[in-house]
Amino acid sequence: MWNGQFPRTVLALARPVNAVSKCCVDFDNYGLNARPPGTTRLKEHAMIAKGWDIEVVRAAFPALRLADEGIPRVYLDAPGGSQVAARVIERMSEVMLKSCANEGGAFRTSHESDRIMGDAHTAVAALLGATSPDEIVFGLNSTSLIFYFSRMIAHDWRAGDEIVLTRMDHDGNVGPWVIAAEERGVTIRWLDFDPETFEYRYEALDGLINSRTRLVACNHASNIFGTVNDVCRIVAAAKAVGAVTMVDAVQSTPHLPLDVALIGCDLLACSAYKFFGPHAGMMFVTAGLRDRLKPLKVRPASWAMPFRLSPGTPSFEAQAGTQAAIEHIAWLGECFGGVSALAPLRERIVAGLEAATAYEATLMDRFLTGIVGVPGFELYGTGSRNRLNARVPTFSFRLAKRSPQEIVQALAERNIFGWAGDFYAYEASGRLGLRDKGGVVRLGLSHYTNLQEVDLAVEAIARLGD
Ligand SMILES: Cc1ncc(COP(=O)(O)O)c(C=O)c1O
Repeated sequence: MWNGQFPRTVLALARPVNAVSKCCVDFDNYGLNARPPGTTRLKEHAMIAKGWDIEVVRAAFPALRLADEGIPRVYLDAPGGSQVAARVIERMSEVMLKSCANEGGAFRTSHESDRIMGDAHTAVAALLGATSPDEIVFGLNSTSLIFYFSRMIAHDWRAGDEIVLTRMDHDGNVGPWVIAAEERGVTIRWLDFDPETFEYRYEALDGLINSRTRLVACNHASNIFGTVNDVCRIVAAAKAVGAVTMVDAVQSTPHLPLDVALIGCDLLACSAYKFFGPHAGMMFVTAGLRDRLKPLKVRPASWAMPFRLSPGTPSFEAQAGTQAAIEHIAWLGECFGGVSALAPLRERIVAGLEAATAYEATLMDRFLTGIVGVPGFELYGTGSRNRLNARVPTFSFRLAKRSPQEIVQALAERNIFGWAGDFYAYEASGRLGLRDKGGVVRLGLSHYTNLQEVDLAVEAIARLGD
């Protein structure tokens, strides 16, 4: 029951931090000097991540202190949903306590909701590199936003038109377009991936995209293989024929400094609950596409953004929490990315994600080094330690003689949290014949994971190997 207190402040967050060198990142070794496609970099900060202090980072996540029957929780379930930063919890509680009101009113709490909306849209624009908060739309989650936009975008598709979808995407960026295509009599062309490299077959693009192509939808980072895809290349090919481009960035946003201007896409979706915030989704939509769309809105709703493309009353608390999650990332930039707290938000975000990327490379290296030689271990994704810039820290695997469900159950008994299944990577799991075999085990590392947790997981998996 509410005791009149805000949740205990864990804000070491506000304190300046003397970062100590606990991990040494060799950018060349990990291939990190090559920037992943669609991401930006503050070049002068590329080496600053050496000061990463994982204990300081972990202190920002209250859930990391929880234990059950004395056994600490090891959260390797981040690709399904990350843990939440303390400032997010505080901000959301504060909104619900002090400013519960709809927007657009004459009174104080309603003004506060107006401010929350404005600040949250501005923060997401800074996160994604959008030029204006009017290019951001909040929704329940990415899937429902893609459904919503698909209805507006497919509005004028005709029989004989084509769209290109991929066999690697989460179904959230496939299913809505399949339904729209079926409704409009539009042909679907499929961009496949190479089952050896777990990368798109880019060489097929020329044969798939043509003057009839109305939409190309692809993903930035795979939620099953961890591959970071060259979305710039795909988007450029689609734009050359005037197709609408949709990038699913749900799995890249928590790990990489995205830049929608570099990607050049019309639409890009991400979800705050994957990047340390609450359950909410966001869609970036270019002003050009936005203004061509016939908005799916109720008649009295304002034509102004974001109302034009945000049906109904939004979750103000989720918007406030999303802004706080983005501030958490910016705080990483201040602590470990070498930027001042006074630097523009975008700069602090980029520096924070750059520092996180570098730290996560050490985690990936540890995992891949440790797991080598576990009998019967089969990784679904690139296992190269020299190309860590080609993946996010999401590892999917099988063991020869245990089902994925058995493995995650055995891990859960040690309080190690991971997922088994296909994670809605429906086409990919079908393509690899995994659907009827229980899929794969998926463990996700995050900037709050420590090396001991990686070792614990590796050791637990090794015990299960044959
Ligand atoms: C790559 C990817 N796309 C889309 C989604 C769906 O996101 P949401 O749950 O916000 O609809 C997920 C969720 O795991 C995902 O990993």
